[in-house]
Amino acid sequence: MSCLTTLTRAFLTRSLRPFRFLNEYDEAIPFAESRRLGLYVHIPFCRQLCSFCPYCKELYDEALCDAYIDCLLREIHLVCGQTQEKKQATSLYFGGGTPALAVQRIGEIVSALQEHFIITEGIGLELHPDNVNVETLSALREAGVTKISIGIQSFGDKFLGILGRKRFDPERLSAALRAVPFETVSMDFIFALPGQTAEDLKADIATAFSIGANHVAIYPFIDFAFTGSTVKPMGKQEKRRLLDDITRYCVSMEYRRESIWTFSATPGACYSSMTRENFLGFGCSATTLLKNQFKVNTFSVAEYRRRIESDTLPTSLTLRFTTRQRMLYYLFWTAYGTEVDPKGFEEFFGVPLNKVYGFEFWLAKRLGFATEEHGIFRMTLKGAFYYHYYENYYTLAYIDKMWGILRREAFPKEIVL
Ligand SMILES: C[S@@+](CC[C@H](N)C(=O)[O-])C[C@H]1O[C@@H](n2cnc3c(N)ncnc32)[C@H](O)[C@@H]1O
Ligand code: SF4
Repeated sequence: MSCLTTLTRAFLTRSLRPFRFLNEYDEAIPFAESRRLGLYVHIPFCRQLCSFCPYCKELYDEALCDAYIDCLLREIHLVCGQTQEKKQATSLYFGGGTPALAVQRIGEIVSALQEHFIITEGIGLELHPDNVNVETLSALREAGVTKISIGIQSFGDKFLGILGRKRFDPERLSAALRAVPFETVSMDFIFALPGQTAEDLKADIATAFSIGANHVAIYPFIDFAFTGSTVKPMGKQEKRRLLDDITRYCVSMEYRRESIWTFSATPGACYSSMTRENFLGFGCSATTLLKNQFKVNTFSVAEYRRRIESDTLPTSLTLRFTTRQRMLYYLFWTAYGTEVDPKGFEEFFGVPLNKVYGFEFWLAKRLGFATEEHGIFRMTLKGAFYYHYYENYYTLAYIDKMWGILRREAFPKEIVL
């Protein structure tokens, strides 16, 4: 499984050097020079833990959640206090877990970050369908949230049952969303569940847009080894047909493809925390990506608190990129947005894209994975399928291994991928 990713990485980075994550970090995180910096805050609490879900999460407990938020505030000032001037940040996203469970304290976290940053493109936050009510939505708006993402997974009882999720009434969500509007209302779905058809998914997407969403994220089900999920993944051919069918449906409805798995129904609706050139992450399991490094915080809530309470950063591992590794990482996440603008690459690395990856982009065009229009490379339907297919390998080869270890060990000595 990981052979494909290892070979591709070796070819694209022109090196056999693996990604080596070490248990070390910079005391002062060098983010001051980063352009287009995104912010991310992880709140790991959920009322019920879903067996298929790989994220860093814990059962909700009010006192524990409060103590955790106190630590988050301290981490923000610990990391950002190094610079006096306010810096621009493109966006702030709250992910989890279920951050809406901490609704009463979101405003405090936003204010703490606004002491250090001017946030220019809005604030996003994830909710479980149970959190979608007028009171919670109003409090989130009051705190400055402009985009929400709701974990629907499916409107079909059969698929909610397969995932072990409770049924809910879409009408209840619709009423709350009409009463408290947001700039982006995104809804998450999982596809490629056993027995799922294109008709099931089209009905889900149509319902989402009819009850108040203007953006949908349709994630392929990923069977992470460490979750112990009993959901059987779908075969490759069936999955490809399904992905192509839903993509064609969304295109025929004139929904705009924002990224490999997301579509929007209105201009400007977007929800993405990962497609940033640089980002700073706060909270357990949060990652930070800068020009020369990628670091990940501990996955243990207890160890996270212990570190912060002794004014120490909760970093578990740091990867120091070679230039080629960083270029590969940059292209992987830019391509996720379905287009690559060589100008952006050159601005970031100071080298023309053509000089470094001219052959690869020529090949991508020859193989029908991309087209070139006005100097920008755009992914085709075929390219999107293969990206999606490769992403599955990448997730299983890299993320599954790394998160599996980090869930067992708070501070492993090293992880080599
Ligand atoms: C943090 S949750 C969203 C908010 C909230 N906790 C909830 O579940 O409604 C993030 C999203 O990841 C997706 N997800 C979780 N586990 C997945 C898996 N094994 N494969 C694919 N997508 C998954 C789900 O669509 C989920 O909505
Ligand atoms: S899917 Fe959402 S509610 Fe379920 S465990 Fe994951 S983060 Fe929590």
